[in-house]
Parts: sequence; C-alpha cells; structure tokens
Amino acid sequence: MTTQVTQLFNHIWQQYLEVTPSADKVHQLLDSGNDVINDHVAYRTFNIEKVNLEKLAAHLIKLGYKECGEYHFEAKKLYAKHFEHADSTQPKVFISELLVEEFSPEVQAIIHKLVDQLPTEAVTADNFLYSGKQWDVSFEDYKTLLAESEYAAWMAAWGYRANHFTVSINHLENHETIESVNEAVKAGGFALNSVGGEIKGDKAVKLEQSSTMADKAPVAFSDKTVEIPSCFYEFAKRYPLANGELYTGFVAASADKIFESTNAAA
Ligand code: NI
Repeated sequence: MTTQVTQLFNHIWQQYLEVTPSADKVHQLLDSGNDVINDHVAYRTFNIEKVNLEKLAAHLIKLGYKECGEYHFEAKKLYAKHFEHADSTQPKVFISELLVEEFSPEVQAIIHKLVDQLPTEAVTADNFLYSGKQWDVSFEDYKTLLAESEYAAWMAAWGYRANHFTVSINHLENHETIESVNEAVKAGGFALNSVGGEIKGDKAVKLEQSSTMADKAPVAFSDKTVEIPSCFYEFAKRYPLANGELYTGFVAASADKIFESTNAAA
C-alpha cells in the first residue's frame, strides 16, 4: 500500500511541476541529499456532491489514509479536512471545498456548468487527483468567478491537481528555522507570499508556515489562452505537543492567508 501511495504522489508531483517549475528549483535549492520530505499536499474542489471533498478523499482512504481534522473558513466560504497515513513519511493531505451555494446565482450557474461536463466515471478513475481540468470554461466566466472568489476561478482554470506541495522544515539538514528557509528561497530569486507577514503561525500554535507566490502558466480557455497564477510551494515547521510528538494538524488562521498565494497580484 505504501508503494501505491508513493506512486500516486509521484504522478501528482510530476503534474504539479508542469505548471510550477519553480518548485523543482526550490526543491533543489533546499535539498542536501534526499532530505526534502513532503509535509502535506493540498487540494481544492467544489462542495457539489459529484466532486465534493469526500470524493477526493475516497482515493486516499482506499490507500490507508484517515480523516484527522476539520476546518472552517467563513470569509472565503470554505470547509476543509485533513487526512493522515499510518506511515508518517507519507504526506498529510489537506482538502478544502468551496461552499458553492453561498455565492451569487451567476457564479453558482458557472460552477454547475463546469461540473456537469465532467464524466461521472472521471471522479472514481485512478488518475482523478491528477486529471486536471476536464471541462471547457471561457475566459469571461473565469473573470466572473475571479470577481467573487479567487478560489473558484483557480478551480475552474486548473481542475484536479495539487494546489501546493509543502517542504517539511523539520527534516531539512541545512535549515533549522523557517526564517533560514525563507532567506534561502528569497536569495534564490523567488517571491514569498507576504499576506499577514511572511511567516504564518508561531510556536504557540505549534505550526509555522510560509509559501512562494504561485508561478504563472498558460491556460487554454474556450475562447483564448491566457497566463494566470498556477500553483505554489509551501514550507512548514512543526513543534512538539506536551506528549513530545509533533503537532500534525493545521491552523485555520494561517491556512486562510496561505490560500492567497494564488492571487494574481501580490
Ligand atoms: Ni498548505
């Protein structure tokens, strides 16, 4: 089962690099010999039954993942859960879903129009988590979504793929602190998400996170091809709980700011 999990994330990583070439460069910059371990991988979806969070999670649960926490993001109108594997060297997975019914009728109609195009069997296919965008969307509709929800627009353009991978700072040989990682990444010429400060969270909440700003890559909309923000790379340092074990959950206030790494204007 561990081999299957590794294979799944290899596919997801390769698909992610196609539109996030900077992640490969940052990976090499931090690596001192196979010490770059993924803390977590993040997914986005819509809460429409056909493609909701549980449909994505099913692909992980059959490989031994278990649900471990839930999160609410009221301003962004999102709900999320995180999943962990018994083999702690496998990445945690954070899946959020957009609460579609809380948006305008116009936005809801566009989102339903996209999801309706997706073949039902695509959702249960082995490659669903790296299947990309299997619907047509116009640039006009993308912009209508963008005006109400950056998240909805990103989903419409990119579909099913990792939104980000995350380097576990705890496992790095050459970096003890998130400050040290951030400096190395910036010195390498990569921009960090500075919404709410470069470092989200602190020792008190047991988790510090930072992230690059998303790369840009071309998307073939139904009417034209446009370069828009794709995916980003995150860095996480975890602190031990009273029992000595590292905290494995997420901090909603920090994740709320990390979501903004795919905003068009930093
Ligand atoms: Ni994350």
